[in-house]
Amino acid sequence: MSQPQPQTLTGKTAVVTGSARGIGFAIASKLAEAGATVVVSDLDAAATKEAAAKIPGAHGIPCDVRDEEQVKSLVEQTVAATGALHIMVPNAGVAKASPLTSMDLAAWRNVMSVNLDGTFLAIRYAAPAIIAAGGGSIVTLGSVTATAGTPLIGHYAASKAAVVNLTKTAATELRPHNVRVNAVLPGFVGTHMVLDEVENFESMLGVPAGGFGALMDQKQGRLGTEDEVAEAVLFLADERSSFCNGTPLLLDGGLAASLF
Ligand SMILES: NC(=O)c1ccc[n+]([C@@H]2O[C@H](COP(=O)([O-])OP(=O)(O)OC[C@H]3O[C@@H](n4cnc5c(N)ncnc54)[C@H](O)[C@@H]3O)[C@@H](O)[C@H]2O)c1
Repeated sequence: MSQPQPQTLTGKTAVVTGSARGIGFAIASKLAEAGATVVVSDLDAAATKEAAAKIPGAHGIPCDVRDEEQVKSLVEQTVAATGALHIMVPNAGVAKASPLTSMDLAAWRNVMSVNLDGTFLAIRYAAPAIIAAGGGSIVTLGSVTATAGTPLIGHYAASKAAVVNLTKTAATELRPHNVRVNAVLPGFVGTHMVLDEVENFESMLGVPAGGFGALMDQKQGRLGTEDEVAEAVLFLADERSSFCNGTPLLLDGGLAASLF
């Protein structure tokens, strides 16, 4: 359940990519509750419009984050519609379970393109606009899978490790311009991304139905929630985190903390 937010982002504009549902929608809602003017953005124009309509004052601008021109245009349209850009959250991401030895190159490239190219392009085009606005914050979506090899989602884990490294480079390059760049690294969260793949995971891991849930209970206590991730993003977006830069913020119920 979302808590009332202090209005820490009044007067700020925030873009969240891939925010028609799931964690992205929770982030957009949270930033709006904190006073930001939010731009909801996703692949599908109708879904983008529908999600934006649920958030007071939000704009909806569709964008495929794999496409450079669309990301450039997303930033330009945001500045034209709201006057400035202060916060960028490159949240769009995909994952589809497959062992490496039967993974199509096309599937590998699509995960890299959405997760890594999409994050690069968001930083590439948002940063100049944020600098022009006097500074701000970029919060990327890493994952606990960035910290270790992850069977069945090797492409996804590799893309997220790269996102975390990219975040650190951006933090250093943009520090002189008053732009902080940090990453959240969630454990497994109960969104479509995870729940749609449970049966695949169970059959590929050779565990009985319900085995994935039991594994999650054992490794991280429970599934995380979208709201918990959104709260961490809000912290990194506003001035409470003013000395965090290049920080990979793990929120995973302890998954990465223990071998057993
Ligand atoms: N769910 C988890 O356990 C988990 C854990 C760690 C990190 N994450 C990350 O959180 C982010 C959000 O994931 P989620 O769990 O909400 O997934 P989700 O599948 O529910 O939502 C992802 C959103 O991204 C959009 N999207 C996909 N391809 C896109 C593209 N090319 N351009 C623009 N939008 C696109 C989808 O339409 C969808 O709305 C992702 O970056 C994901 O990797 C999720």
